[in-house]
Amino acid sequence: MSFYSIEDFEYNSSWGVAIIPYRGSLILHIDEVYKKPLKVYEYLKECPIRAHRLCEADPKSLNGKMFYDGQHILDNRTITTRSHLFDKIIEFFCKEKDENFPPLSRFNQFRLIEDYPGNDVFYTPHVDGGMLNCLTYLNPNCGSDAGTMLYLPANDDAEQILENQSEHEQPWKDDSLFVEDLAIISKFNSMVVFDGSIPHGQIINDNRFKEQTRFTEVSFF
Ligand SMILES: [Fe+2]
Repeated sequence: MSFYSIEDFEYNSSWGVAIIPYRGSLILHIDEVYKKPLKVYEYLKECPIRAHRLCEADPKSLNGKMFYDGQHILDNRTITTRSHLFDKIIEFFCKEKDENFPPLSRFNQFRLIEDYPGNDVFYTPHVDGGMLNCLTYLNPNCGSDAGTMLYLPANDDAEQILENQSEHEQPWKDDSLFVEDLAIISKFNSMVVFDGSIPHGQIINDNRFKEQTRFTEVSFF
């Protein structure tokens, strides 16, 4: 039995930051987020996967059938280095703090049940309208090409899909609908921050997440 404490979830107090201009907005890439990222990873590997939306509420949902899409929530709000980084991010993007600041830690857990269907599909390009997305990649041994893809919608059908957001009904979208525009690498313990109104989706391009769970920490501002 492993034993963890809140110190295991401390963030570093200084970071390597790159600012990347992208189609009129800015993307932040922040390196070395956690002090003990392997400890966080070990913790996440021990957690069961719990669906983060009620599957029963949507009978068409394939969550738990074709894939597992879960979320593990932890209260790390008292970690001041964490709040400090989020403070800096919000300041950089001129966002207002809401009453939920600092947010709870939300760790997304994703795992394929059925095989990756092949090269001509993308996993759920979507938008998180009006929100700033912060994603931290927490798999030390999945390679760096399993990050986040930023897409351009190719046609009206794609715009329709982005509006309707039926990600758990049919997660694999035909590659004629979207153009891959920028791939964000999944460097272990790095965070990326971007405008959630940019169409994006996790990069699932083979069966590696049938063998291991894909962990990302996600915060929205
Ligand atoms: Fe998203």
